[in-house]
Amino acid sequence: MQKLIIKGRKELSGKISISGSKNATLPILAASILASKVSIKNIPLVKDIFTMIELLNFIGLKTKLNKSKKIIEIINKNTKINTLAPYKLVKTMRAGVLVLGPLLTRYKKAKVSLPGGCAIGTRPVDLHLFALKKLGAKIKIKDGYILAQAKNGLRGTNISFPSISVGATENALLAAFQAKGETVMKNCAIEPEIIDLIIFLKKLGANIKLKGRTIFIKERKVKKSKIIHEVIFDRIELGTYMIASALLAKKDLKINKVNPKIIKSEIDVLKKIGVSIIKKKTSVVVKKGINLKKINITTKPYPGFPTDLQAQLMVLLTQVNGISKIKENIFENRFMHVPELKRMGAQIEIKGKTAIIKGPTKLTGAEVMATDLRASVSLVLAGLVAENRTIINRLYHLDRGYEFLENKLNSCQAKIKRI
Ligand code: EPZ
Repeated sequence: MQKLIIKGRKELSGKISISGSKNATLPILAASILASKVSIKNIPLVKDIFTMIELLNFIGLKTKLNKSKKIIEIINKNTKINTLAPYKLVKTMRAGVLVLGPLLTRYKKAKVSLPGGCAIGTRPVDLHLFALKKLGAKIKIKDGYILAQAKNGLRGTNISFPSISVGATENALLAAFQAKGETVMKNCAIEPEIIDLIIFLKKLGANIKLKGRTIFIKERKVKKSKIIHEVIFDRIELGTYMIASALLAKKDLKINKVNPKIIKSEIDVLKKIGVSIIKKKTSVVVKKGINLKKINITTKPYPGFPTDLQAQLMVLLTQVNGISKIKENIFENRFMHVPELKRMGAQIEIKGKTAIIKGPTKLTGAEVMATDLRASVSLVLAGLVAENRTIINRLYHLDRGYEFLENKLNSCQAKIKRI
């Protein structure tokens, strides 16, 4: 089992480049089931992506991954397609459920393992199934699998999501693209990763319009030509390194290959706390904040403050003056990092959905355990700012979503060793 050993209090300076977005790449990989030939660039070399590629291979697509160029070529010869997503692949990577929409709409049937829960919550897929049923799918749950059928193909319809879901919006989008007629989907998630998926589907020939939270899709033939797409940057990785800089960058820390316009809410929150951020066209420059002020935030669907940055922001709030509050409104159990941060000296209290963080508190290194992807990176941030050494166990959580994390931070003078 690998561990990270972090030497604390090392001031950061230098440059970091942001990788492609894991959460944009995953639905675009699932969308390649609808295509003939695609070439996807700027993909992040992280565990979840490799698992999704394994799933595409299992289904019968031909994939060729060029790790040094971060490009994957995918060919769907449309022969010997296995419309099955087995438990062994979906259990570790919930986004495997995103192959349900494309398989159903193109091959009229699919058997996909229920993803099951994870550390941050039960993670149901009822909204995914609600949308597919509206599109005419027959759905049964049996032995932990979703059995879906659409003998005469899917039919366009009006869908109004009872609550906002990134995955359900993506699955419905992938299914509706090949449904007959027109589909109007209301109360959709509009994360930048979904916009990137829409750009990809338009290259595939889709007729999609977005107005507010409503998506209009008209039936279109899929283009047979080769589709080339470069995945958007990872805004959560960006937010993570902006917070690391706010904690420890004595001089400027430049973060490249980003579009600051996309992370307005994160930048607004950090500026409100007192972090100095200079926005450039394709980069941001952040430096250590002094006299940081407390803040109260609630996690919300985009364009609100993202739940995926909640754990990271909490570490910053242990260093600001005063009592801050974070209300986690998206997932029911996304405070797993709190007990570990408290073992490092943080003063945090949980009241229902709200974490109350007292600052500033001196953090001291400890041996801690990662529990989920974003909680694990909050422990890295805490280790960077704590006295002495921090050892982080269960690194597989971290490796699911952060590419070359220790290399990127060590290139900015951090002292992190993987053993
Ligand atoms: C996506 O998960 C992201 N994952 C998550 O990032 C992110 O935290 C989440 O969106 C919210 O932004 C990927 O894109 C691969 P949801 P998803 O459906 O689609 C409930 C990370 O760290 N819900 O928007 O699963 C659900 O339980 C990961 O990169 C239902 O009730 O999130 C949650 O409370 C973690 N029924 C809320 O909606 C459903 O059918 C939002 O979930 C689906 C979701």
